[in-house]
Order: sequence, then C-alpha cells, then structure tokens
Amino acid sequence: MSDADRSFWDAHAASFDDEPDHGLRDERARDAWRRLMTDHLPPAPADVVDLGCGTGTLSVLLAQEGHRVRGLDFAGAMVSAAASKAARAGVDVDVVQGDAAAPPYEAGSCDVVLGRHILWALPDASRALASWVGLLRPGGRLVLVEGRWSTGAGISAEDCAALVLEHRETVDVTPLRDPALWGREIGDERYLAVSLR
Ligand SMILES: C[S@@+](CC[C@H](N)C(=O)[O-])C[C@H]1O[C@@H](n2cnc3c(N)ncnc32)[C@H](O)[C@@H]1O
Repeated sequence: MSDADRSFWDAHAASFDDEPDHGLRDERARDAWRRLMTDHLPPAPADVVDLGCGTGTLSVLLAQEGHRVRGLDFAGAMVSAAASKAARAGVDVDVVQGDAAAPPYEAGSCDVVLGRHILWALPDASRALASWVGLLRPGGRLVLVEGRWSTGAGISAEDCAALVLEHRETVDVTPLRDPALWGREIGDERYLAVSLR
C-alpha cells in the first residue's frame, strides 16, 4: 500500500457516505443490504471481519444484527469515521488501522471474512485472498462484493471467481442488479461472490 493511496481515501472519507450504497442513509437501501447480508452470512452471532471497512456502514449494520464485528482500514480518516459511526449507533465494532492485504488477526479466528469494494483496490489480490482464507475457521466463509464499474475500475466477476478458486474449492457469484442496493438503476457489473469452502 502506498501513502498516495491512503491519502486518496483519507481525502474521500468526509464525503464517502454521500453515495447511496456507501452511507445507506435511505431506509430502502439499508433494508436491501441488510437482506443481502442476512441471506449470505451465517446466523448471528458470527465473528466477522470487514476488510477495507471504510466508514463502517456494513460493519455497523452487521453489529446491529448481532454479529461480533471487527473492521479494518488503512486510511485513518475512514477508521475514525467507522469508530464514530459505531459509537453513535451504540454497537461495538473493533475498528483498527491496518493493511487489508495482511490483516493483523489471528489465523482461524473468523466465521466470515467480508470485503466490499476492496479486493479490486489491492495490488496483489491473490496474495491478499490467501491471507483472508487463513483467517477463516473450518466452515467459515468468504463474502465479497465487487464490481467492474462503468468508470473502468474494478474486477470482473469472472476474474474474481478465478482468483477465489486459487484458494478455495467453491465460489458462487450472484449478480447484484437490484436498484435498491445502489439507489438507482445500474448498467455495469456488480456482484456478490461467496465461497463456503
Ligand atoms: C471503495 S471503499 C469501500 C469501503 C467499504 N468497504 C464500503 O463498502 O463501504 C475502499 C476502502 O478500502 C480501503 N483500502 C484500500 N486499500 C486498502 C488496504 N490496502 N488496506 C486497508 N484498507 C484499504 C480504503 O481506505 C477505503 O476505505
């Protein structure tokens, strides 16, 4: 990770939640993400790590659902925003600053490794995935939300699935086209990739 990358995300922390899918300020969007997460995570309470947690929106949502959540981000402003959001919501989320490519957690300590819009940003996604898989307990799952956006940034579902299969036996990809998730109709590729083993 570079200082320039970190500065970029630090600079975006204050306005990050203005995007409907980031802040989930609209109840319809919040419900859509809550449903998606509930459908694809194990029953609460599970030990979840949210890598590249940003302003902590999903971390807080999952803590409110009864999960034990740890969040990590390399941008100090994102970490502060996430910690404040958890405090305002009255939930415990252990948020730390660190590199998602090498998360500072004990091997085999998680039921779920969650990453929304983070894998695409890592210089060596395969290596990062290897370390994420190492965090999982037997029976743990990898839950990734990624996309190949109209901006040209991101990672295709096909490439993401191939990366996951370098480290896991299975991956199920679900397209995420429901406008409720994004606050608008979308025309680019957005998906959930879940690996159960
Ligand atoms: C597009 S945002 C997604 C934030 C959050 N997951 C969400 O979906 O709302 C990407 C986040 O990843 C963080 N990030 C990028 N590279 C990282 C790295 N190497 N280690 C930790 N965090 C990183 C950024 O600071 C930013 O908060």
